[in-house]
Amino acid sequence: MSIRIKMLLSFTGMLVISLLFILLTASLYTIAATGDLQSFRDIYKVHYQINPLTEQGEAIFQEMKFLAKTDPDGLQDKVLLREYDMKLRAEKSGLYVRRESDQIFESLTFHQPELKQALPAYDLNNNQIRSTFNISERFYAYAKFDFRYTDGERGSIFVIREKSPFAELTRKLLPVMSFLLIAVLIIANLLLYRWITRSFIKPLHQLRSYAEQIKAGNLAFELQLSTNDEVGQLNEAFESMRKQLQRSNELRQQDEVSRKELISNISHDLRTPLTNIKGYIEGIRDGVANTPEKMDSYVNIIHAKAVSMDKLVDELFLYSKLDLNQEPFLFKTVDIVDFLEDSIEELKYDLDDKGIELDWDKQTSGPVLASVDLDKLKRTVVNIVDNALKYMDNARKRFGITLQADQEWITIAFKDNGSGISEEALPHIFERFYRAERSRNSSAGGSGLGLAIARQIIEAHGGSIWAESIPDAGTTIYIRLQRQTNEETENGNG
Ligand SMILES: Nc1ncnc2c1ncn2[C@@H]1O[C@H](COP(=O)(O)OP(=O)(O)OP(=O)(O)O)[C@@H](O)[C@H]1O
Ligand SMILES: [Mg+2]
Repeated sequence: MSIRIKMLLSFTGMLVISLLFILLTASLYTIAATGDLQSFRDIYKVHYQINPLTEQGEAIFQEMKFLAKTDPDGLQDKVLLREYDMKLRAEKSGLYVRRESDQIFESLTFHQPELKQALPAYDLNNNQIRSTFNISERFYAYAKFDFRYTDGERGSIFVIREKSPFAELTRKLLPVMSFLLIAVLIIANLLLYRWITRSFIKPLHQLRSYAEQIKAGNLAFELQLSTNDEVGQLNEAFESMRKQLQRSNELRQQDEVSRKELISNISHDLRTPLTNIKGYIEGIRDGVANTPEKMDSYVNIIHAKAVSMDKLVDELFLYSKLDLNQEPFLFKTVDIVDFLEDSIEELKYDLDDKGIELDWDKQTSGPVLASVDLDKLKRTVVNIVDNALKYMDNARKRFGITLQADQEWITIAFKDNGSGISEEALPHIFERFYRAERSRNSSAGGSGLGLAIARQIIEAHGGSIWAESIPDAGTTIYIRLQRQTNEETENGNG
């Protein structure tokens, strides 16, 4: 059963129960007030015959009417009249008898001095024998009979019953009011039902259609249900799910593209040296290397190609392990000054060899500690220095290392005066397999993994790496690492 039907049933159920409840309350109230349910019906029967009296009262009135017709003078007998009045009193009514303008009898129940003036004039045709009158706030209903005494004088008998004007009004309006009440109840129920379904069922339907769109793979839309209730929260959950799905879809597509790129790059980079090796081996096999010198050079070339392939495979392996977070890091607290000075010591010969001047600029004093994986950091420095050596085309070759440190960060700058990197290439040099066009054409160009590996390593240290470069003037690569205070080290050791 759908929620809509369930709600419709529950609303209708509530309506029926309320109506029954009203009816039951009304009947109970009537029983309590009048003693039986019959009088509830009587009120109506009597009222709609425009009979102001109860059945008993009416009977007495008829009896007196008969008397007025047969023995009018008997209606001057006060004892008889009192007797009738007594009976009427039991019916909450009273008797009034007049002769011309004189009052023959007035029931004690009235206590109403203005009663005489309020009574209607004589009407011997008795056209209207039942009606009402009121004396200021009080409301009376009566049955009247006009007759003539034997001496020809006019007389009237009145059986009068006082009523509450409100009761009278209520009685008149009761059917209309009951109808209105029920109508209001039904309309209110319908409105409530509509309101609930609008604020609840409709958004649910919309969410379902959204879910169907998502299922169909259409994620490029925004869920827009701006309700503040649970449905709104559901919508928010849906929306964040959609965004998440969209993001992971995009990532998957990106991954797909870069995976294809990776495979094509790897196969290209491996094929070049392999083709070379194949060519030289074929040369040897075909007897092209017919002198020991030639043979030597062929073998050397083959060896060099094999070494470069080995290096490439090694870099690839390291890069993919870093990328998959499968390369373990061994963090140790190290004085970066010591580390750089050791590195410089090792580099010196290589640089000297290539006629490169080295500047070491330590802009701090005392130890500069950081938690690093020494081997990996060394690898980073080697990759950076390697680039500086490779892309150095200046006559006066200079390479500088600068160390700066504040309370929080250690910044190392590696500055060369080589070929520089073009503005377009600069943002991409840390991407894997990226090589600026210049280096791609030169024999010095590598696989384009050196800086990608450096970035993976530095980011795994919680640091950052970036480059600044002026084409044909030089490049500076910056590494920023988190500095460790002495306290941290002590705590770490303790
Ligand atoms: N110091 C530099 N001077 C000029 N260009 C540089 C410098 N360092 C990097 N580049 C440019 O950035 C590119 C990417 O550098 P990266 O070290 O990642 O790759 P590679 O040196 O080409 O190959 P690999 O390091 O894997 O042998 C280089 O190809 C080069 O174009
Ligand atoms: Mg490199």
